[in-house]
Amino acid sequence: AAQPATTGGAPADSNTILLGEVGSLTGAQATFGVSTRNGIDLAIKEANAAGGVKGKKIAVRVYDNQSKPEEAAQATTRLITQDKVVLILGEVASSNSLAMAEKAQSAGVPMITPSSTNPSVTEKGDYIFRVCFIDPFQGFVMAKFARENLKAEQVAILQDNKSAYSIGLTDVFQRKFTEMGGKITTLESYSQGDTDFRAQLTAIKKTKPQAIYVPGYYNDVGIIARQARELGLTVPLMGGDGWDSEKLFELAGNALDGSYFSNHYSPENPEPRVQKFIADYKAAYGSVPDAMAALGYDAAKVAIAALEKAKDLSGPAIRDAIGQTKDFPGVAGTITLDKNRNAVKSAAILKIGDGKTQFVTTINP
Ligand code: PHE
Repeated sequence: AAQPATTGGAPADSNTILLGEVGSLTGAQATFGVSTRNGIDLAIKEANAAGGVKGKKIAVRVYDNQSKPEEAAQATTRLITQDKVVLILGEVASSNSLAMAEKAQSAGVPMITPSSTNPSVTEKGDYIFRVCFIDPFQGFVMAKFARENLKAEQVAILQDNKSAYSIGLTDVFQRKFTEMGGKITTLESYSQGDTDFRAQLTAIKKTKPQAIYVPGYYNDVGIIARQARELGLTVPLMGGDGWDSEKLFELAGNALDGSYFSNHYSPENPEPRVQKFIADYKAAYGSVPDAMAALGYDAAKVAIAALEKAKDLSGPAIRDAIGQTKDFPGVAGTITLDKNRNAVKSAAILKIGDGKTQFVTTINP
């Protein structure tokens, strides 16, 4: 396998605390890694400008996993054995975080995923944390929205059968939507990276759904949306956080107008700390932060607060400090970690129109 790229960071020395980061900086979901990198970078710069942690500066060694789980696992091993980082941040896609969590847990190095929502990630063990909600909640949110707000009775699902995230969300959505009295007309599958979805979309069209749930990542969803419209499927598509990318609109054009997805955050949140984050992020990186950027920032902030509080920089001490995170004011919601090391937070529903997203409503746990 190719050697992952490394950027940023600095050698560990007595004046530096070295953290690790693994992200999809290139490959199919590159906006996930780049946004997360920016969010983490902003948090670290702020912390260092404010004097660092325990009198030391913080540095981050970053590896690109090219949007692939095998590379994510290798990069994690490298961070642990060669770089000897004290804590690891990443990944976004759940399949990648699952591969990382295995390694971090067995080495006893704390890991915080900013945005992986599949429940199994933190089930890998007591060193693995996340600062976002989990998919049993996210799937419920969209099922409820489909039934109560869209008044949908019949929904089809198109899932990515190569992604732990997509499979997990499909399960929950299917169960919840059915419990709420709705009917799933058909469940079709694709494998990430496919480019022709017409056979599945044609099968879906025959079942006359009132909406289609597509819990995939933006790179596939953009193409799916276009092909759905070409085939005359005009009903709204619905999705989860995996849609969140400015690239979605480049791929889909107007094909997603009138569609909805659940997400972790809305840039329309008027709260001063959110608006300050957005202004600082724009000044630094030239774009409005997406959910990954916001969660990357929050994950790094939670990490920094835990490093400050930990009695020393050993794995168990840092793990215990992260575990005590309570009422932490994040830009993507307030973070309290439960006993399963997950954050319990509300979700935002966003509507797409004219190639941008609009805040619709918040759903609380
Ligand atoms: N929640 C997705 C996953 O677990 C990743 C994701 C998070 C994508 C936030 C976009 C925004 O795979």
